[in-house]
Amino acid sequence: MPEKFYVTTPIYYVNARPHIGHAYTTIAADVLALRSRMLGRDTWFLTGTDEHGQKIERSAVAAGIPPQQFADEVSASFQSLWKRMGISYDQYIRTTDPAHQRGVQQLFRTLYERGEIYLDQYTGQYCVSEEMFVEGPPGTIGPDGRPTETVTEENFYFRLSRFQKPLIDLIESHQLAIEPESRKNEVLSFLRGSVSDGGENLLSDTGVAYRPGALKDLSVSRTSFDWGIPVPEPAASTTQQKHVIYVWLDALANYMTAVGYGDPDRQDTFNRYWPADLHLVGKEIVRFHCVYWPAFLLAAGLPLPKRITAHGWLLFEESKMSKSRGNIVRTETILDSFGALKPELDKAEQDLFAADVLRYFLLREIPFGQDGSFSFDALLARYNAELANGYGNLVSRTLKLIEQNFDGVIPESGLTTELTSATTAAITAVDLALDRQHFTTAVQACAGLVTATDGYISEHAPWKLAKDSAQRDRLATVLRTATKAIRILTALLYPVLPYTTERVWQQLGLGSLRRAVENGELTNLTHGGFGPNARLGKLAPLFPRADKDTLTRMIDAEQKSTSPEAGAQQLAPMTEATPDAAPASSALAEVVPEPPNQSAQEIGRPDTPQITIDDFLKVDLRVARVLVAERIPKSDKLLRLEVDLGYEQRQILAGIAEFYDPANLVGRNVVIVANLAPRKMRGLESQGMIVAASVGDGTPALAGFLDDIEIGARLR
Ligand code: MSP
Repeated sequence: MPEKFYVTTPIYYVNARPHIGHAYTTIAADVLALRSRMLGRDTWFLTGTDEHGQKIERSAVAAGIPPQQFADEVSASFQSLWKRMGISYDQYIRTTDPAHQRGVQQLFRTLYERGEIYLDQYTGQYCVSEEMFVEGPPGTIGPDGRPTETVTEENFYFRLSRFQKPLIDLIESHQLAIEPESRKNEVLSFLRGSVSDGGENLLSDTGVAYRPGALKDLSVSRTSFDWGIPVPEPAASTTQQKHVIYVWLDALANYMTAVGYGDPDRQDTFNRYWPADLHLVGKEIVRFHCVYWPAFLLAAGLPLPKRITAHGWLLFEESKMSKSRGNIVRTETILDSFGALKPELDKAEQDLFAADVLRYFLLREIPFGQDGSFSFDALLARYNAELANGYGNLVSRTLKLIEQNFDGVIPESGLTTELTSATTAAITAVDLALDRQHFTTAVQACAGLVTATDGYISEHAPWKLAKDSAQRDRLATVLRTATKAIRILTALLYPVLPYTTERVWQQLGLGSLRRAVENGELTNLTHGGFGPNARLGKLAPLFPRADKDTLTRMIDAEQKSTSPEAGAQQLAPMTEATPDAAPASSALAEVVPEPPNQSAQEIGRPDTPQITIDDFLKVDLRVARVLVAERIPKSDKLLRLEVDLGYEQRQILAGIAEFYDPANLVGRNVVIVANLAPRKMRGLESQGMIVAASVGDGTPALAGFLDDIEIGARLR
């Protein structure tokens, strides 16, 4: 039986379309899966989408469509992006899949029957965007930087508190590996509680102090909405209310239900792949994966995943790239812009080529585990330096010399060991680094081999040797040695650059690289190579140099995708810094805009009467965040908004339905008149007014800020 390797990505929420943050984790998992298959392991690579929960339900309401349809659309956009990028997942799971839902209910039932889940009442602060309860008074700022909502619910509770010591012991003894070390320490300190404030502590098996009771039981059901998997019998009939299973219990279980947990017909698959070898996650969801998930498994009597590796965040414009901040970079922008460098290819191949570029950049640029800034400039610079001038140029110039001097036949030579130590060092370095998910080190090792081989060629100057017939053997040795190194380099780079290395493999005359991988020919790279009279394939340029045009294309594409017009067609929100957020002439637009009386061209000096500062200060203008935005039945003009002022939440009716897609408003900061007397419209109370500029023929443009402003802040 070959060794198995089961690797997973988080399953992504379907409240936003994918951006390069999601692509980052997926690429990392794909690299490991390709490498694992290359090493001949029985590999299972799982990704998918997380489709239940209040956040998704609210986004669907805001988009005016049923949650299932909403989830179908966004999930399809993830799948089609992964297809464009050639991601080689073995399975795509959706938490709305019936088999997954059955598996989750099975897990819940098992926990309930083992006495690990009980029914109780709770009032607490809930952070909707992170789908978790947090400690603190009403209005506490949640992990997403927004005030929490007060929620009182009768809930089923999981006895998480029981697992404090077992988890500490498992993590400290490395049975549950958490990488990098900093994340492991963070989890341990969360598990240990505050041990230094003089209270009574206990000791773990390895002698580490912890504060008993620091880990509280966890609520694992919800009653305030129903977009989720129903709590199954026998637990369900112990309560009058309809409970759905907590979205994180539902989501985490995907890693097991995907391989057959809860399905009697798939027991073999489950036994073959579970436990997972590696969960790759972003650092913000470490607690869910390293505390809740292993506790659920321990409680259910199931084996734990072997390792959880967390990476850092891709930052853009200095903060975490995310939908709610509106500072995302879409992967499609990079596929289209770099794809255009290869006009001779069809679109599908252009995408795969460009996906290689993004893979290389993300893994090379940002040490896995740390946060890193994404920038188009850096992407372009890295591409030119290491792919166009580095690897690509090395392959092209070496193979061209063989074509010119040996008619495309790789010359024979007795002694070709001159680069052996550089190649074996690179093989070992890549192996070691990828085993520990140190992608940057692995790619650096490949870049180092490019430099060594380039240096070797420059040192021996085959173009000079070619001019002297007495040096023909030496020329043969130099070119064969370099070509052997290129073969190894290409195989090493295969998981990172699957499209381009396939082309290089063909140029080397070695046939299909993918087939060689499938046939297990690359499990040991020092074996195999070129036979006698090996002939090169057809040569073609690999990485054309990119110039400012590529940069401009990327920047333009991103600007277009965040413009208000594009925003209407996409779920990706406008940034808060779109031009319409900084109106030229600010006005308090009526809730339902007044008919226009001035066109943009006609705006002259207004003849409104003067007011005193005291008059002005009577108007309480505040920054608020839109939590919910939805159309009002039978009204073309009105949207119903729920906004959060930090200290309270309000319902506001705004006459902007013809101009704003509700989906694009959720998460956006707006300015409201907070002390306007409430009034009723269409039977609903409007508790304030949104401030907008009236532009052109009266089109409202919502006021906003270029900076990230704390909600509730007063304008004066
Ligand atoms: N649905 C949960 C995960 C459940 S797993 C059982 C979730 N989804 S998410 O859509 O918010 O995706 C989060 C993951 O996407 C991160 O953990 C990370 O893998 C990736 N990233 C999303 N934005 C990112 C960055 N800006 N930077 C790096 N990775 C990011 O959480």
